[in-house]
Amino acid sequence: MTAQIIDGKVLADAVRADLAEKATALKATQGITPCLAVILVGEDPASAVYVKNKVMACEKAGFRSIKVVYPSDVEPMVVLGKIAELNADPDVHGILVQLPLPKQFDADAVLEAIDPAKDVDGFHAENVGALMQGNPRFIPCTPYGVMKMLESAKVPLKGAEAVIVGRSNIVGKPMAMLLLAQSCTVTVCHSQSKDLAFHTKRADILVAAVGRAKMITGDMIKPGATVIDVGINRTADGKLCGDVDFESCKEVAGAITPVPGGVGPMTITMLLANTLASAERTLK
Ligand code: GUN
Repeated sequence: MTAQIIDGKVLADAVRADLAEKATALKATQGITPCLAVILVGEDPASAVYVKNKVMACEKAGFRSIKVVYPSDVEPMVVLGKIAELNADPDVHGILVQLPLPKQFDADAVLEAIDPAKDVDGFHAENVGALMQGNPRFIPCTPYGVMKMLESAKVPLKGAEAVIVGRSNIVGKPMAMLLLAQSCTVTVCHSQSKDLAFHTKRADILVAAVGRAKMITGDMIKPGATVIDVGINRTADGKLCGDVDFESCKEVAGAITPVPGGVGPMTITMLLANTLASAERTLK
């Protein structure tokens, strides 16, 4: 059996076209242009690419964006001052600080400084709590994108065994909350899990978000499973690859996301969705 490929690029293009249309309408009827502010600290090349892509996606969808870049040795107070300024600016609807931050920063303190009503990453404790209570304001973009992909591929969720590999605040934990809210039976595995394959083989839906190249192989998955690959890694020869060994898994899975062109394009799409939702909420 060869799996159905869940194409994140096609879905992202469709969702972004819809968001661009809604942004145009908001501007025409209310004079509001959705605006995202992105703060980048330091010279990490991967972070610089992510930020560039976020700003470009805003432009393409007709959103405004503000990009603020600091050197890696910037004083945290300077960044906190900028966040306060953006919090107070009524024309800014979303604020995102690209992670990771250099070591002189207390990342949690920076995330808590963002106005929860503009926290389009959904990382502020208030928004994490709201998600956990089943009443989310901003859903973290990557797991939000994964849910949209599962919906578009019509993957049955109620009662399904969902196994997540990875327990990060950015992906693993919010992913667990979202799947639980859809009545999946959720297992979260991590680096200390004893028999990873025992868990992954039981999964109807497997989400890999660990950051280890091709660690999920075809012999670790259940025939017909839906396999979602959140990983972005580079092989020794510089090629992009996921946490899932696509070649062996596509022969076993029922549906699978590729890397690149899977979850990645959906992450930025949901950032735009959160920014638009924030702009629309200012009318309420
Ligand atoms: N670094 C890696 N992923 C993310 C993300 O989704 N948001 C932010 N702010 N930083 C990240």
